[in-house]
Amino acid sequence: MGEMVRKESGGAILNHWVLAISCILLMITGFAFLFHLESVGAVFGGFETMKTVHNWTGVVFTVALVLTMVNYLGDSLRYDADDVQWFKVAGGYLSHKVKVPPMGKHNPGQKLYYLGIVIFGIAIALSGFGIWLMKDNPTIMLLSHLVHNVAFIFFCIMVPVHIYLSTLANPGTFQIMVSGMVPLELAKKRYPKWMKAAGKM
Ligand code: HEM
Repeated sequence: MGEMVRKESGGAILNHWVLAISCILLMITGFAFLFHLESVGAVFGGFETMKTVHNWTGVVFTVALVLTMVNYLGDSLRYDADDVQWFKVAGGYLSHKVKVPPMGKHNPGQKLYYLGIVIFGIAIALSGFGIWLMKDNPTIMLLSHLVHNVAFIFFCIMVPVHIYLSTLANPGTFQIMVSGMVPLELAKKRYPKWMKAAGKM
């Protein structure tokens, strides 16, 4: 095997899977509450226990979400002319004839996905704690339910898209969240600006 470069640290990988597993568990249990799915409730020994699992998984998700900021927030807030051009050619996903501009460590689609996860993640966490802990305040309860459901729609659309893009649509990407490593040749093709800055090309 040729030279490999590290894209993700062990800590970032561990945190990604804590975030991902807690997020998916929250989505499954949340979906079961919304549509009153008795069969899913039964897996947890009833809706009351499922609610406890949902609430405490929300705490785990919130901690992991805050920890992602160490790795991704800085990069996700910086955009350059190549990023704008990337949007104009839709990242090359819709046609092979367009020229995709050179990218850094993350493409702008990933950066926006990350910002979406942070914004809607904070919204879903705060509103979740509102529903959990402020039952006596009808205004907060109403607002929290509204925000919680809108943010849930974002997750239901974006998480499956993210999973598809980081597995089937882009072979070699899933490996990054397992070992943290990318083959140098692939990194040069996908992230030339990052590789140049790292002195690898
Ligand atoms: C369970 C299936 C999932 C798979 C296979 C998966 C895979 C990946 C991979 C491979 C990356 C690295 C992409 C790269 O560096 O080029 C990544 C990044 C990331 N994932 Fe996931 N992921 C999954 C679920 C989730 C879920 C449920 C969340 C929701 C909170 C999530 C949030 C993120 C974030 C915030 C990043 C960093 C930003 C980015 O690179 O887009 N992932 N994921």
